Amino acid sequence: MANVDFSVRDSFGTKAGVIAAAAGSAIGLGNIWRFPYVAGQNGGGAFLLIYLGFILVIGFPVMLAELSIGRRAQRNALGSFKKLAPGKPWYLVGLMGVVAAFMILAFYNTIAGWTLEYLAQAVGNGFNGKSSDELKNSFEAFQSGTFRPVFWQLIFILLTGYIVFLGVKKGIEKYTKILMPLLVVLVVIIAIKSLTLPGAREGLVFLFKPDFSKISWTVILDALGQATFSLSIGMGTLITYGSYIQKNNNLANTVLKVTAADTAIAVLAGIMIFPAVFAFNIDPAEGFGLVFIVLPGIFEQMAGGYFFGILFFILLAIAALTSTVSIFEVIVAYFSEELNMTRHRATIIGSVALAFVGVFATLSFGPLSGALIFDKTIFEWFEYLSVNIMLPLGAIFLVLFVGWYLGRKNVEDELTSGGSLKVKLLGLFMIVVKFIAPIAITLVFIYGLGLIGKKDKKKSEPVADEQAFANNTFLPGRTIELFT
Ligand code: PHE
Repeated sequence: MANVDFSVRDSFGTKAGVIAAAAGSAIGLGNIWRFPYVAGQNGGGAFLLIYLGFILVIGFPVMLAELSIGRRAQRNALGSFKKLAPGKPWYLVGLMGVVAAFMILAFYNTIAGWTLEYLAQAVGNGFNGKSSDELKNSFEAFQSGTFRPVFWQLIFILLTGYIVFLGVKKGIEKYTKILMPLLVVLVVIIAIKSLTLPGAREGLVFLFKPDFSKISWTVILDALGQATFSLSIGMGTLITYGSYIQKNNNLANTVLKVTAADTAIAVLAGIMIFPAVFAFNIDPAEGFGLVFIVLPGIFEQMAGGYFFGILFFILLAIAALTSTVSIFEVIVAYFSEELNMTRHRATIIGSVALAFVGVFATLSFGPLSGALIFDKTIFEWFEYLSVNIMLPLGAIFLVLFVGWYLGRKNVEDELTSGGSLKVKLLGLFMIVVKFIAPIAITLVFIYGLGLIGKKDKKKSEPVADEQAFANNTFLPGRTIELFT
């Protein structure tokens, strides 16, 4: 560690390293844990279709806009706006990003901690011989506990802090390059197994056949939130990473590869989960626990499942880690460049603050499950505010900034690396960032939040709770089950 030099601004070493780091940020729990659970709650096929539309029309341009801002300014999320628009209030967009980073990490670390628990269970052969009901019960029991979920969350915060402390090249770039491709291979193998289960067809129909009667503005807002979240856009992660990218890198090309990889993994995760959901008779709208209940069930039925289970949870934890690292980097880069802290100090202060806030999210499933604010737990508020509100809002301002403030000349200079690269469709990109993306996001926002028009009737969450009650996952139900 002694040879880590923090005096010069760190940067990614190679083009492959840039893609690995950006894809490492994008690919994470968002694809494997969140995409299936949100798609499941929002009716499947129609959600997927809208999600894919958002990736194309909003995801791609916003990601390109964000990387351009960062590389042009060579600063953290907030500092970039200060440098490019001195004396203007644009830096508030960066500030919102830093706040969003805190909120996302607060709930993300909870789930990341769950992956470590499941790794430990996989090693201990804990899924062996369990029915899907038993897997569900043991998930609920773990999740609503106090010590273990908090313990794993803290371990995860430590791991993230350690890698961020090591710095961009030696920490982030090195690991993602090797591990991400391995994750893809494993997801494909598990998906193939899932497809051979009886009832798999139904799962595919659920995922791919759009039922348009399921579409509502809240579904559309959920799809937008999920698209921004999964691509890591809207809060300055990619401004920060963009600031570490060398000037001769072809940003549009990088964005194309990262977006394609991220989307492919989300869809593959769907193919891995939904056939098994129907085969095991699980409610697709099960919610937060969906993959943690379904995956062990697949491993249990699979030849070599013990081995695959361990490998899968190792890789999932690493996928989560390369994402938490990228979010935490937003905070650390901000602390160190704007508040003049050393990287070391910034990492420690950031980690302690996160541990403090994050514990409330983790305990939302157990001791604090009754602490509801307008019928959402603390965890749900962190998730909802950051994913459905702050990321889309951030995305609006990012594209507006690039379209209207930076303007075509600067954008052209940035995307062509000073004229040395050819870039097609620049005119279209400018139209999208100036008009199409901001108008589309604003509309989804206004209707999705019910600011105009009638508010949608509530989604399936309360129904899912009743379901949980009926399925004996609440304590009174379980007691009854014990005695019958
Ligand atoms: N995209 C990451 C995932 O899918 C999460 C993330 C969100 C990372 C926002 C950075 C910024 O898991």
